Amino acid sequence: GRSVRVALLGCGTVGSEVTRMLIEEGDELAARIGAPVELAGIAVRRPDRHPEVPQHLLTADAGELVESDVDIVVELIGGIEPAKGWLLTALRKGKSVVTGNKALLSLHAAELSEAADSSGADLYYEAAVAGAIPLLRPLRESLAGDRITRVMGIVNGTTNFILSAMDSTGVGYAETLDEATRLGYAEADPTADVDGYDAASKAAILASLAFHSRVTAAEVHREGIAGISASDIAAARLLNRTVKLLAICERVTADDGTESVSARVHPVMIPRSHQLAGVNGAFNAVYVEADAAGELMFYGQGAGGAPTASAVLGDLVAAARNRVAGGHGPRESAHAALPMRPMGQT
Ligand code: HSE
Repeated sequence: GRSVRVALLGCGTVGSEVTRMLIEEGDELAARIGAPVELAGIAVRRPDRHPEVPQHLLTADAGELVESDVDIVVELIGGIEPAKGWLLTALRKGKSVVTGNKALLSLHAAELSEAADSSGADLYYEAAVAGAIPLLRPLRESLAGDRITRVMGIVNGTTNFILSAMDSTGVGYAETLDEATRLGYAEADPTADVDGYDAASKAAILASLAFHSRVTAAEVHREGIAGISASDIAAARLLNRTVKLLAICERVTADDGTESVSARVHPVMIPRSHQLAGVNGAFNAVYVEADAAGELMFYGQGAGGAPTASAVLGDLVAAARNRVAGGHGPRESAHAALPMRPMGQT
């Protein structure tokens, strides 16, 4: 049959790994999907700066690539515009989208999923939260019959890497941040990590999926780790505790029975005996609590090129399979729209 044609937007830490996997595992992926996957083009700002990928695939014109004869657009550029415009164009034309763009999803998920729903395209973004860890699909599909009450955990690898290093070695903040950047964990602008914006975006995405609601990053109470000093860590240690930056999303039921959503990101002193205390480096761990399932824990590499590429490829296979089957994945359109709990109340 016909091949599934893929456009890749962006070829940084994650994109170059996606390209490598698509090329090296092409036959295996084709067997799993039931059709060959063809990488139709890779849009980058500076084509002369990517000697690692097949040169004939490179283009500086992402808009043209999106409009060309492709079935799936994989977006790994990040940021709001121009990524948003390209993805809306793709979705409106019925092309499925796979993206790792947390900032975009945490602000414009409603607009993007409406565009996907109206054309019957897929919108998948497993790579946007917790890197390699399968988390969004379990929330959206495996737990769709249950009632989720809480999602809580470590969702930023860079800050966890810094806090772990501060705890174990007392190594300086700046030095550790440089290392996180070198390893490909940190965002292009690491203040997004350190000040909690990255984790707040992820909390918004998690709360939206878990509670069938629309939570934007701006509604998440946010506090980063910039104010955490070596003496704070030492004080926590004396109390047999350690400091972790946690994202906490909860379904809150008031005395009169009305429900709302609380979503927040802030440093927490947790007992060293707690399972989250043992999550170190760029690893992420997320607890999910649901009425029937009880407590679940998801753990794995939450940042870095290859782990994040794993999530992108998984979504790509899902979207490609849906194309081959002539259908689409689960819709997100029916939302109960729980209100946000006013800030300042926890
Ligand atoms: N900067 C992010 C982190 C990358 O450190 O977790 C993964 O989303």
